[in-house]
Formats: sequence, C-alpha cells, structure tokens
Amino acid sequence: MTTAKEQYFPGLEGVIAGETAISTISGGLQYRGYGIEELATRSNFDEVAYLLLHGGMPTPAELAGFRKRLSENRVIPDAVVDFIRKLPRNAPAMDVLRTGVSALAHFDPDTDSNEHAADVRKAERLLARIPTLIGVRSRLKRGLEPIPPRADLDFSANLIHMVTGKVPPESHRKAFEVSLILYAEHEYNASTFTARVTASTLAGMYGAITAAIAALKGPLHGGANERAVEVLQSVGKSSNAEKWIRDSLARKDRIMGFGHRIYKVEDPRARILKNFCRELAGKIGGQASDWEGVADIIERVIWDEKKLPPNVDWPAGRLYHMMGLEVELYTPIFVSSRITGWAAHVIEQHDHNRLIRPVARYTGPADLKYVGIDQRQ
Ligand code: ACO
Repeated sequence: MTTAKEQYFPGLEGVIAGETAISTISGGLQYRGYGIEELATRSNFDEVAYLLLHGGMPTPAELAGFRKRLSENRVIPDAVVDFIRKLPRNAPAMDVLRTGVSALAHFDPDTDSNEHAADVRKAERLLARIPTLIGVRSRLKRGLEPIPPRADLDFSANLIHMVTGKVPPESHRKAFEVSLILYAEHEYNASTFTARVTASTLAGMYGAITAAIAALKGPLHGGANERAVEVLQSVGKSSNAEKWIRDSLARKDRIMGFGHRIYKVEDPRARILKNFCRELAGKIGGQASDWEGVADIIERVIWDEKKLPPNVDWPAGRLYHMMGLEVELYTPIFVSSRITGWAAHVIEQHDHNRLIRPVARYTGPADLKYVGIDQRQ
C-alpha cells in the first residue's frame, strides 16, 4: 500500500492536482499561451472555442469549417424538447440544463467512445446544442413556443435570439462576446476539476459535463453571477450603496461576486469586463448607469474593509441585466461558454488518463465494538 504524506490543505488550496496545457493563471491568465486581454479585445468567441477544443488558433478555412459544423448541429432531438416540456415549470434553469445535457447523451452516436476524435465531435455537438437547450427551456417556462436555431447567426447572436426572439443589437454584441471569452476556461476550478475526476474513471464526456454543470450551479462558483445582481437590486440607488454595504459587512454577510481562491488582489477578467459594462451602461443611461456607480462604491468599501477584489461574476451579472436577460439565465450562459474549457479538460484527461483518487485524513472514531440491534437502547 502507498502511504500518503501527512500533509493536508483544506479545500485543496494551493495543491497541484494535475498537469494541463489548456490554461494557466500564474503570470496572467492565458488560454493555450494566449493572454486573455488580447483574446478579449481582438478575438471572438468562436475562435477562442476552437483554440480551446482543437489546441491552436484556426486558419480561416478551419474557422469556417468549425462554424459550419456548429450551425449544422444546433437542432436537438424532438424527444429532448418533449422531455423538457414535461418538467415542472418552476424547475431551476440550471437543473433543467443539467438534465437536458444528460438526456442528449442518449442520442449521440459517439456516447460510448472516449477516443480523442469522438470526444472532439461530442464537444462540438454540446457547444452547438447547449444554447438550444437554454432557449427551449426559457421560452417554455414563459409559456412561449421554442424558436428554432438560426444557422445564419454566429454563436452568441443565435443564443440570444433563441431566448428573446431578437438578434441582439451591435452595442450588446461585443460586450456579450467578451463575457463568453472570459468565462470559457479557468484551469482547475471546482467544476472543471469535477469534470476531470469524472472523466478519470473513464466515464464519458456527457457524464463529466453533467457533473460539471451540477458543480457550477453553486453560489460559491458560477451561481454567483445571479446573486451579484440580487446585491444590486437590493441596494437600488447609488445613494444607498455605502450604508448598504457597510451594514452587510457588519453582519458578516458573504457578498456574492467578491473574493476568489486564487486572485487575492485582482481578477483580470473582472477588470476587462467592467470596461465593457461601463461602455454599454454609458450608452443605455438610466438605471444601468447608476448601477455602475453602485458597483464602484461597493468595490471601494469591500476593498477598504476586507481587501477582497470583485471576481468575473460581478460585472457579468450587471452586463446580462443591462441586456434585459432574465436572472436565471446568467449561470446557464456561463455554461454555454465554459463547455469549451470543460470539454478540453475531459479530452486532455482521457488522452493522458490516470484515475484521480486522493486520500482523506480520518477524523472519526476507531475500533468500536459491534452491538447487536436487540441490545441497543
Ligand atoms: N464576502 C465577504 N467575505 C468574504 C467573501 C465575500 N464574498 N469571500 C471571502 N470572504 C471572507 C470569508 O468570510 C473569510 O473570512 P474569515 O477568515 O474572517 O472567516 C475569508 O474571506 C476567507 O474566505 P474563504 O471562503 O475561506 O476563502 P476561499 O478562498 O475559500 O473563497 C470564494 C473563495 C468561495 C470564491 C469566496 O471568496 C466567496 O464565497 N465569494 C463569494 C461567491 C462568489 O463570488 N463566487 C464566485 C467565484 S468566481 C467563479 O467561480 C467564476
């Protein structure tokens, strides 16, 4: 038996739990060697998705082929639509998305293969179909019929169109694309690690992604973008902000959208997205503009009092609110992007697999004597 070294790091903080060539956080966030700032400002989501799934930047022909495959794969089986139709109307959107992804496995010809090429095909299908699941669910919940995907729209415009029935205006599109790029991948975060642990048992892509969606839903992880907007709704006007946040901190409330296990001074994704939020809010004016002021005050007080920086979910929640999207769609939108990072990690895990199985430090009793049930009081 291998004996474990007696070292324990609660929450696995600081532990190197594996190797990856997909992204790094140390020395600035990079996806496959490309800095996130340059990707956010100069690239687009389709190109970044290709980079993550295929390992390098596409040529024009490769990108065109990728986009064609995505647009051809957007339709989901009628049986899955019917299944979603029969789910309770008030089931949380993230739970329905998790169930929908799990259901899609039964219709994928590559479900049972963990070969590299099959994994890439499944990843592309999931990337294409997750927006359809989100759109179908959102419309059925509102008593509306689903809108078929549009092959002529790019990934992000099609996603918004399937939810709202409208092609997003140009002013929204760049900021939304940037949010998808920034959400796409983040090393060994909780949901990605969940996907890798699942994949390491040689469970397939669908099982790993289903597990990852379950992990992302939690408010300490992706679910925070929905809670961040609740903070702003609860504050209301910028004139209330300082008192609101000081009272919350005095009560020791956890403020969603702040703090990060790795970023202790700045989450670069939050800084980048904030600029796009601010620009859009300036164009929209009114409450959107006031919320930028609220955000500034809350950021300043939390930094002064707790030295906690905002994370990416803080501006993302505001952005999606400005775009008029329902709050329960925010974390599913995160999924529509993070599927690229998760799938890249599942593929990498399958390509170089070793079962992930750490050890625990036991804290329970030992050597108890068994007492028969008829003798227990
Ligand atoms: N609000 C108030 N206090 C906080 C916050 C917060 N958002 N985050 C951390 N703290 C405090 C804790 O209360 C704790 O204080 P204490 O030592 O006085 O008890 C201290 O900071 C350390 O907190 P931990 O939870 O141990 O730190 P950890 O590294 O595990 O936290 C986490 C990371 C879970 C993200 C945390 O900052 C948090 O809960 N943030 C709010 C949820 C959130 O925004 N999650 C999104 C993260 S980004 C993403 O997943 C895409």
